[in-house]
Amino acid sequence: MAGSYNVLVTRLIPQTGLELLRRCCQKVEVNPHDRDLSHRELLEKVAGRHAVLCVLTDRIDATVFDAAGPQCRIFANLAVGYDNVDVSEATRRSVMITNTPGVLTDATAELTWALLLAAARRIVEADRFFRSGRWAGWGPMQFLGGQLAGQTLGILGAGRIGTAVALRSRGFGMSLLYCDAVRNHQLETQAGAQRVDLHSLFEQSDYVSIHVNLTPANRHLVDEPLLRRMKPTACLVNTSRGPVIDEAALVRVLRDRRIAAAALDVYEDEPQPASGLVELDNVVCVPHIGSATSQTRAKMAIMAAENIAAALTGRRPPNLVNPEVWKD
Ligand code: GLV
Repeated sequence: MAGSYNVLVTRLIPQTGLELLRRCCQKVEVNPHDRDLSHRELLEKVAGRHAVLCVLTDRIDATVFDAAGPQCRIFANLAVGYDNVDVSEATRRSVMITNTPGVLTDATAELTWALLLAAARRIVEADRFFRSGRWAGWGPMQFLGGQLAGQTLGILGAGRIGTAVALRSRGFGMSLLYCDAVRNHQLETQAGAQRVDLHSLFEQSDYVSIHVNLTPANRHLVDEPLLRRMKPTACLVNTSRGPVIDEAALVRVLRDRRIAAAALDVYEDEPQPASGLVELDNVVCVPHIGSATSQTRAKMAIMAAENIAAALTGRRPPNLVNPEVWKD
């Protein structure tokens, strides 16, 4: 039986998630547009809701909590990252915030490897060349890229996704380094990974893959001096959050061939790429699709809906990121 709850879903999500919401809430309003709500629209739409299922492009801050009103118990973010939400403000107001951890780990790890391979073997550049009709036949010096076997992969941030990416490197016969504030015993015992500091990771790796959360401390963690420590043959991959890298500095080092290549799923100022980025041949760019498989997006939608259903029926949401607000 649906309770008299009123929920806003800020973007169309897979039906399974919506069905679950409709089973427990009388009113479920979904943004009908194939675009984000503007901040002004969001402020109008959240008013009077008991719960909001939001996405990573919605900025959820004090203005949104004010507009929603004190009856709004939860904002369920359809993402594992929640840097778009002012969690401390939510906590101050006893509003629950949830995310979707775990269900997107494999999808994001798979995309990371797709990007890494694409950048290493210049797949996108070669595809463009082939389609252009300029190919005049096989050549011994054409499209030479970087090999993976015998090379070193450096993982920056060895949490769920960093670990999943690292474990997949065993199939490619790579050595593993990682940098994380916390020691990762699984990576060390199962994959022979060695924990190093940030500078050593960038100096010694042939491929660096970034998997840290975006926090104030991690903004521009990968800055120009760090990029210039990389090998000139090295390749950088980012499927975490754009602002972790100083994107303008990355454009400079790629343009000057101070590093060989990069592959990006995320950008500092989405959806806008840094000036000069898309003109470069040695970068592969995809539009923030790390979790974009049908299976994963369905699981994320169900997870976000379950968090809302729990919050509205007095149960602790399974993926609460601010547990301080939960009182038994
Ligand atoms: C995607 O970027 C996510 O955080 O889930």
